[in-house]
Amino acid sequence: MSNETMVEIKHLTKEFEEKKGGLFKKKRQKVYAVNDINLKIKKGEILGIIGESGCGKTTTARMVMRLLRESSGEIWFKGKELCRLNDRETKKIRKEMQIIFQDPYDTLNPGMRVLDILMEPLNAHLSHISFKEKVNMIKDMVEEIDLKPADQYIYRYPHQLSGGQRQRVAIARAIILKPAFVAADEPTSMLDVSVRAGILNLLLNLRKRMGLTMMFITHDLATASYMCDRIAVMYQGKIVEIGQTQKIIHNPTHPYTKALVSVVKDLNYFIENREKLIRDGEVDSSQQTSGCPFSMRCPHEHERCNHVQPVLTKLSGEHFVSCHLENKENFKRQEEEAVNAI
Ligand SMILES: Nc1ncnc2c1ncn2[C@@H]1O[C@H](COP(=O)(O)OP(=O)(O)OP(=O)(O)O)[C@@H](O)[C@H]1O
Ligand SMILES: [Mg+2]
Repeated sequence: MSNETMVEIKHLTKEFEEKKGGLFKKKRQKVYAVNDINLKIKKGEILGIIGESGCGKTTTARMVMRLLRESSGEIWFKGKELCRLNDRETKKIRKEMQIIFQDPYDTLNPGMRVLDILMEPLNAHLSHISFKEKVNMIKDMVEEIDLKPADQYIYRYPHQLSGGQRQRVAIARAIILKPAFVAADEPTSMLDVSVRAGILNLLLNLRKRMGLTMMFITHDLATASYMCDRIAVMYQGKIVEIGQTQKIIHNPTHPYTKALVSVVKDLNYFIENREKLIRDGEVDSSQQTSGCPFSMRCPHEHERCNHVQPVLTKLSGEHFVSCHLENKENFKRQEEEAVNAI
């Protein structure tokens, strides 16, 4: 992995308007699905995005892939600011950025054979290459994703493949144009446990062989720790902790990350100590607080946490956390500033 940055996200925010209320009196309420996030993905790196349902993982990936327009912020990829590109420039960049979704059933056209599915991106972007050459490229790709011999698979329809094989075809479609960057949005969560490891290993091998850079989305810390060089932990649209995988697993600092890690490390400990780790409660992203997004469920709640938003602060090296209780220096400084301001 190099130190070169492949993707940089600056102050990325997405608000949705939700209609609430009765039949006649509908109120519009803003929901911050992604709320002012900053991160960098290095060339050749797999960055994990983890967090519970609704925390904004998919919304982040869809904005980076230009499938969804941001409310504000910037996305830099290979020196270009993607939010400012016109449609023609965006189409060109799409060739270099691909996404793999959770459910290959949804994304593969049931009426198309594997050959046609993989032919589509080639026809869209490589019009100068002959049909025969494209078929050869497809066969090589199909063998690359371990469906061998290719001739046995390319004439099948998606329903004639197993779930794992379908996801392999979806992966082949994403990488056939040799993109520089791939986002994988929970690529194994719909699959049987028995085939998950095969798909994860395939992605790791492809990363090695093709030098792919990846954003890997999951709600499962064990999967993230297997796959990722660094992990960003999201909670209610915010990154609450980010760092190298080993740091996150062995030295989790944010109370939410601590709860996630304890579930994976020792389920019995988590069950016995549940109240000390996380307070019960449904996440409701329409309930925005002016303080820490985790304050409603944090077991160490402090008065300041309800009113002042913590910021990501460096702990060491590449390890950052956004928590008043951990950022003691920051905490002290802000308190002094508050006193001085009076
Ligand atoms: N099109 C939309 N309109 C309104 N709200 C939306 C829309 N898409 C997402 N949201 C809201 O934005 C928030 C983040 O959603 P998102 O799908 O990014 O979460 P996620 O982390 O991917 O969750 P999951 O693990 O369930 O896939 C949620 O509160 C969701 O309800
Ligand atoms: Mg999602």
